Amino acid sequence: MKETLDLIDFALHKSGMEPLKDPTQVQYLGEGAWHQAYLVQLQTGEPVVVRFPMQVAYGKKVAFDEAASLAEYAGTKAYYQLANGVKPGICPEFFYYHVEVDKTFTVESYAGKALKLENLTFMEAFQAGAEIGEFFRKMNTSNHALRGFGYLKWNGTDIEGQFQSSVKDFMKNENEEYVRNFEAFIRHYNQPILSTVLSHLEDCVLNRKLDESQIVLTNQDTSPENILLHTDGRVSLVDPFPILYSGDSLAGNFVNNYQTLFPTFFNASRYAKHQFDQFEEKLQTIADGFMEGYCMGDADVKRRVKQEAFIKLTNLAAYQFKLLQTQELTNEKKIRYGEKTAIANRIPVLVKRMEEFQWEKSGTKLA
Ligand SMILES: Nc1ncnc2c1ncn2[C@@H]1O[C@H](COP(=O)(O)OP(=O)(O)OP(=O)(O)O)[C@@H](O)[C@H]1O
Ligand SMILES: [Mg+2]
Repeated sequence: MKETLDLIDFALHKSGMEPLKDPTQVQYLGEGAWHQAYLVQLQTGEPVVVRFPMQVAYGKKVAFDEAASLAEYAGTKAYYQLANGVKPGICPEFFYYHVEVDKTFTVESYAGKALKLENLTFMEAFQAGAEIGEFFRKMNTSNHALRGFGYLKWNGTDIEGQFQSSVKDFMKNENEEYVRNFEAFIRHYNQPILSTVLSHLEDCVLNRKLDESQIVLTNQDTSPENILLHTDGRVSLVDPFPILYSGDSLAGNFVNNYQTLFPTFFNASRYAKHQFDQFEEKLQTIADGFMEGYCMGDADVKRRVKQEAFIKLTNLAAYQFKLLQTQELTNEKKIRYGEKTAIANRIPVLVKRMEEFQWEKSGTKLA
């Protein structure tokens, strides 16, 4: 503990905060897969969160990687700044980071209590989803001024998208790959899958186009762990996984995660503590709220987001099936996805969801 307190003191000093006076100012907040977070009550009355990277993540020792850490934290800073520009207070207003062997940390404003699914009413779940959906839509119109697309990388002086090639060609290849992978899944899976699933997927990619002007800074990780609630019920988002890509695609990712991924990954040790299987309806309600807030009743937007969610769902099933074909799962994969039996049991559930996918009345096609 002494070592942790020294590190917290170092972090506070470096980030221009008052020094730590008393260990009772510090409280352990929690951890995800990559960071441990501490709440520090400053004597000014301001609460801040200090985070340190874990030494072991997904069963493997984490090696110091300066460029990767800089990309991650500069990416978080850029995302927080842009996000607060479109919706003040949605992310921590203050964010400072420092990258150095054994002394890497982040300090940020405290942004509320972790969302607890068991305490959340269905009304609150819908409202939280709607607020995030509305915020995601607003982010699509915000100018990020970053180069390239894809996940963020550190170019030596700044962050940029990992790809600088043609967005149009990239998406064309991605579309072909989705269909190819799903066809391979159908070919090898030993159970029948309704033929409408593949034809829906083909329809989905038919309308799927993207160009440079539509690249927005959006977020791939809005899991319940990263959604916080202020005492007045307002939502905050922390610990984003920023990506420069299609806003609608990441909206579809949100919907698929809450509708399907979280409830079917309850038996992976990464997520076990959340018992997502017990809160399936509530997670679905968050997804419904998100659709409402993001689409605002626009039928075209709704169809596009559903298409993206469907693509994510088919891709998830194809990927899970592929994992079963590998000889031995790595430790990391076991933590992320569960043992092979858990993965094998998940696949028919995913197939059923594809077969019963709720399309808008006019189907998959854009009018
Ligand atoms: N600014 C903040 N305000 C309040 N609580 C926070 C804040 N940042 C983090 N936390 C709490 O600490 C927990 C762990 O932090 P964080 O999500 O950053 O860890 P992580 O390991 O990077 O997560 P992941 O596995 O999603 O990458 C969060 O789930 C949240 O409950
Ligand atoms: Mg997190």
